[in-house]
Amino acid sequence: MDRIPVILDGDPGHDDAIAWMLAKASPLLEIRAVTSVCGNQTIEKTTYNAMRICTLLGIDAPIAMGKPAPLMAPPMNAPSVHGQSGLDGPKLPEPAMELSELRSVELMAKVLRESEEPVTIVATGPQTNVAALLLSHPELKPKIERISFMGGGIAHGNWTPAAEFNILVDPEAADIVLKSGVPLIMSGLDVTEKALIYPADFERVRAVGNVVARVVADWLEFFYEFHRKLGYPGAPLHDPVAVVSLLRPDLLKTKALCVEIETKGEYCRGATIGHDRAPANARVNLGIDRDGFADLLVEAVKAYGEARR
Ligand code: RIB
Ligand code: CA
Repeated sequence: MDRIPVILDGDPGHDDAIAWMLAKASPLLEIRAVTSVCGNQTIEKTTYNAMRICTLLGIDAPIAMGKPAPLMAPPMNAPSVHGQSGLDGPKLPEPAMELSELRSVELMAKVLRESEEPVTIVATGPQTNVAALLLSHPELKPKIERISFMGGGIAHGNWTPAAEFNILVDPEAADIVLKSGVPLIMSGLDVTEKALIYPADFERVRAVGNVVARVVADWLEFFYEFHRKLGYPGAPLHDPVAVVSLLRPDLLKTKALCVEIETKGEYCRGATIGHDRAPANARVNLGIDRDGFADLLVEAVKAYGEARR
């Protein structure tokens, strides 16, 4: 079975971390590189978190620091959701690796250039690095198999009524990606707010009993706290859906749409407008088999070893 080569680009972030746990646990994916982007926290913090996550999970791939700010907008962070570190909660190991000497765009370009087959990019933060890659290396576009991204919402936003956080942080980047012609899978709030992991599921994960299971259960608990106060019955696991799209598309309900980004607008900047009045540029996930997703999560943590008492 040929494994799917992937580049993981994110702003960890609890849900980014769980997405990467899913990716590493699957025999279907081969992680070729990890790149950090500023979003949930500053680029320094998301990079440090990326290195700690890769140490915990045993991801043996080069890690590169992304751009320090969005293409045009000032940086915007989310400490209210992910804490001051960007990954508050359980203690994590210190990085066991050195950072790549390359910055994110150049590491992405190197991986694409050297790969025999096209590579899939899993983007779970603002699309700053991906857009910069497309702008500075257009000749490498044919080496991108597809971009599976968490971002947007054709029906609503979360950071503003119109815009979802990842898109709002860097709408210009998202506009470049959506207009790139690269095959896209969009996992926006339409599906990710249905990807609810309940407290009972946290305990199923914890009961697996290995170190990673206990950390993931703690990440789930921390991430749920913000959403519980908003009335959510569970943690909406946004970023892992971008990985589920590659591993188990059978769990998803998808529609091909033309998705356009509002980069202007006093009230609607960052909105993702999905319609069928022009050729589709993205497969948009709209629904998920929640129970199947929860089971996938529990099975994934089992890949990280036996229970340790
Ligand atoms: O709106 C949810 C997205 O913003 C997720 O990617 C989360 O990690 C934050 O980056
Ligand atoms: Ca994220």
